[in-house]
Amino acid sequence: MRCRDLIDLDDLTLQDWESLISLAQKIRKAPSEYARAAQGSIIATLFFEPSTRTQLSFQTAMLRLGGQVIGFGDPQTSSIAKGETLKDTVKMVNGYADLIVIRHPSEGAAKAASLYSSCPVINAGDGGHLHPTQTLTDLVTLKEEKRLNGLTIGFCGDLKNGRTVHSLVKAMCRYKNRFVLISTKQLSLPEYIKNVIIENGCEFTETESLEKAIPMLDILYMTRIQRERFSSMEEYEKQRDVYVLSQAKMRLAKPSLRVLHPLPRVDEIDQEVDNDPRAIYFDQAKYGVYARMSLILHLLKQDNICCKPADGLMELPEAVCSNQRCITRSEKYLPHLVKYAGGIRRCAFCESIIEL
Ligand code: NCD
Repeated sequence: MRCRDLIDLDDLTLQDWESLISLAQKIRKAPSEYARAAQGSIIATLFFEPSTRTQLSFQTAMLRLGGQVIGFGDPQTSSIAKGETLKDTVKMVNGYADLIVIRHPSEGAAKAASLYSSCPVINAGDGGHLHPTQTLTDLVTLKEEKRLNGLTIGFCGDLKNGRTVHSLVKAMCRYKNRFVLISTKQLSLPEYIKNVIIENGCEFTETESLEKAIPMLDILYMTRIQRERFSSMEEYEKQRDVYVLSQAKMRLAKPSLRVLHPLPRVDEIDQEVDNDPRAIYFDQAKYGVYARMSLILHLLKQDNICCKPADGLMELPEAVCSNQRCITRSEKYLPHLVKYAGGIRRCAFCESIIEL
């Protein structure tokens, strides 16, 4: 692989993706052959935000590869509660582990961690920004259960704050798919992700009606309304329960539809839909273990790294990111790094546009 860390799947080539997916498929067919593949290595899971699947699937993946796991799932039980910086936590963990997996509520946190880490860093979700390992999971699921290109994919729910949506839309653009964005106006997909769709020459339509959209879909990617990213409970209450996938709606869909959901589900999919063979979200969670086993093995194999974490970035002291949820807001020592994409200056951590 081209990169030492996995911060954004876009940092990798399509060839890297195919190699990650195909190793995940091989592991799934013959897991016992990989039971000692990471023996002697330690992974650190640093979870500054709640998680069930992502944390447990990383831990399971490492244990199934014969490696070992350290970490925390609640920052209140670590020295972060005493005011330790992200930089210091990372530098210290470098002395203990061979690979760091980090989830953090601030956007760009994994990128920030990678600047100070001497071992590879994996982004397990940075605020409302990205979630590349969920996307890798989704790619393995789609490859096994459907295909990766020429699909009409509906994304439904909180498209504004759903990092799994942002990462997956970006990925599926590379495979030339068509998108139907199903959300309320308040929770629509951010402009910068819509621009990615346009730049890749893919089509998208926007609708507020799941009933109208569902008959044309090959894939329906349902998502939870991200309560923790709302500024008030009142705003959240207005948005919850707007979209509920029921059996009645499933009857309007193609027999070949597949329903995915990164989980956790709150109430956006009725329990009765679980028995429909088109609902594959629990299988999807299982594919996540194979996807992460493959990723761990790729990153532990340190022989083909050619890019450093700060490659392609520029330090611009006068560039201050205006995104309140950016990691640069809380970790003040971070350099003011920018990157240029399509002639636009963006924060290298959270990708917000920076105007000077
Ligand atoms: C997602 C996440 O954390 O972004 N869950 C996951 O990792 N499988 C989705 C969510 O929280 O809604």
